[in-house]
Parts: sequence; structure tokens; C-alpha cells
Amino acid sequence: MALVSSLSVLPTLEGDLERLEKLLVTSVIAEEDYLTEIASHLITAGGKRVRPGFSIASSGVEKSIAINASKAVLLGGVAVELVHLGSLYHDDVMDEAELRRTVPSVNALWGNLTAILAGDFLLARASEIAASLGTEVAGLLAKTIGELCEGQILELQSAFKIDRTLDSYERSISGKTASLLATACKIGGLTAELSRENIDITKSFGHSYGMAFQIIDDILDLTATDEELGKPAGNDLIEGVYTLPVISAFSSKYGEELEEILGKEISLEERNRARQLIRQSGGVKDALTRARYWTGQAVSALDNLPDSEATTALKSATDHLINRASSTTIN
Ligand code: IPE
Ligand code: IPE
Ligand code: MG
Ligand code: MG
Repeated sequence: MALVSSLSVLPTLEGDLERLEKLLVTSVIAEEDYLTEIASHLITAGGKRVRPGFSIASSGVEKSIAINASKAVLLGGVAVELVHLGSLYHDDVMDEAELRRTVPSVNALWGNLTAILAGDFLLARASEIAASLGTEVAGLLAKTIGELCEGQILELQSAFKIDRTLDSYERSISGKTASLLATACKIGGLTAELSRENIDITKSFGHSYGMAFQIIDDILDLTATDEELGKPAGNDLIEGVYTLPVISAFSSKYGEELEEILGKEISLEERNRARQLIRQSGGVKDALTRARYWTGQAVSALDNLPDSEATTALKSATDHLINRASSTTIN
């Protein structure tokens, strides 16, 4: 899905995203055709474009009627999508994932070494574009890449730990996911020269939305299929990444049995049993409740923005996330 359908109440969005897509494709052209091919792989494969969609929507919150996004706003969106892409190249190496955006991952096709280098290349191109947008945007994006690494390192540190806490989990997802969504919104605000107050509000919205977004992604890892996600489902337990539904299940009456299975490398059979226990424990429901807390925070932030088509679009994207979460099978 190339367009952010949940933001589509923004009348200009489709045209803006089409222009952004052209800039995105151009942004990864390298001297070597071989590198261009690898760096373009996941762009061509699709993706929801949530982050650039949020940059564009955030840029418009002060205008009651939406107008086409400026070149600076679009380039801001390209920079955040490139950071996202680079992080996916690296994440699939870390998670040993062979499927992404419905196609084989870069590491599956070209190996880990090439995936790491191509990921670095995407981050470098993102930094170059950010620098052209001014020192504040460049500094912010660099800081966000650092936070992303901190979040991923925290996750690695707690791998296979059955005593992982909600606090440790939320610190990790704040760094690895919410930080970039917050920055996507803030860069939209900065490149559109919104008031400082509104820039801060969009950033805070992006952070809360990002927290809910990752919790829901983690729920789906336990409840959905590879086909539904276009990436591997059920991989978190195999990799020892104990997400919110699992943390919650550990403190339920099924906790003891779960502890006997997890905390180490497991077979697919053990994974399936653990998944069943987690669902029975109400862990998915608990995680959904926490996701709702964060979408509530996101909507509260939006209440402080001017009433505009773009603000409505961000609200509708948040509602869409809640609905997506609520429709996940709980049993
Ligand atoms: C995947 O992000 C990584 C997470 C933070 C969960 P998206 O779900 O936005 O992935 P694409 O861009 O649509 O592929
Ligand atoms: C999110 O981590 C990826 C980044 C933020 C880099 P996950 O490992 O949970 O994401 P998916 O499920 O592979 O997309
Ligand atoms: Mg992953
Ligand atoms: Mg990961």
C-alpha cells in the first residue's frame, strides 16, 4: 500500500505523496548501479509511508484548508522515510528476518554485510538531505538516529530475559519507534515554519502515536500471519524479544508454564505453545489497553492544535490505529 489511506481525509495528500515518491526514488541513486538497486529494493516493494505522511500532515495544521506541501516539507518527508528504511535494513539483519514489505529482505537476497552497508548508505543520504534543510533539522535527525540505536540496544540487552519490565519495554520502543514518528511530525512543522508551540504539539502527538504503533505491531506479531503482515509473524519469541503481551502473560496464572518454555532458544512447537498461553492469559488484551492509553494521549495532543483538515487527518490516522488494534483476534 503506497498511500497512507488513514490520512486520506487530507485532500492534497495523494498528490503530495506522488511527488514525494519521485524524490525518494531519486534520493538513493548511487554511482554504482548495483548499490542503487539494493538501496531501492524496499522503496519499490511498497510500505505505508506513515512517517512522510505525518510530516506532510503536520506541516499543514495551521492552514484551515489544505494546500500542496512545499519542496522543503517533501524533502523532510524523504529524509525521515530514508532513516526508517535504513533502520529496517539493519533491523532485518538483527532479527534474521527474510521477508519485508511482502518481498525477500535485503539480507535474504544479498547477505548481512551488504544489508548493513546499504542501510548505512540510506542513513547517509537522509543526513545529506536533512543538512540541506538547515542545522536544526540536521541535528534533530542525527539525534533521532542515535535514539533509534539506543532503543535497539536496550532490546538486545533484554533479549531472552523473562524479568523484562513494562518500563524497560517502553524505553526501548520509545527509542526505536516513537522517536522517529515524533521527529517526522516535528520536521514537517519545522520545514513549514509553524509556531514553536504547534511544532512541539505535533512532536508530542507523533511520540504518543509511535508508542501505540509499536505496541500494536508487537501484538500483531503474536496474532497475525506472514501473509497479513508482509513480514514474518511470530518471530519475536524466537528472537527472545519479549514484548508487552508476553511481559503481561508472565505475571498471569499461565506465567509459570510460560517461564518454563521461554528464556532460551525455542523450537517452533514451543513457540506455538507459548503463543497459545500468551493469548489465553489476557496478555494481548492488556497490551491493547496500553496501546489505547497512548492513542488517548495522541488525540489529547491534537486537541491543542488549530482546527484544520490536516489536524483532522492526524486524528483519523489515530482512530484507524485503534480500529486496527481492536479488530485483532484476542483468542
Ligand atoms: C515497521 O514500520 C517497523 C516498526 C516500527 C513497527 P511500518 O509498519 O511503518 O513499516 P512500513 O514502512 O509500512 O513497511
Ligand atoms: C521495529 O522493530 C524496527 C525499527 C524500529 C528499526 P521490529 O523488529 O519490532 O519491527 P518489525 O516487526 O521487524 O517491522
Ligand atoms: Mg524486526
Ligand atoms: Mg527488531
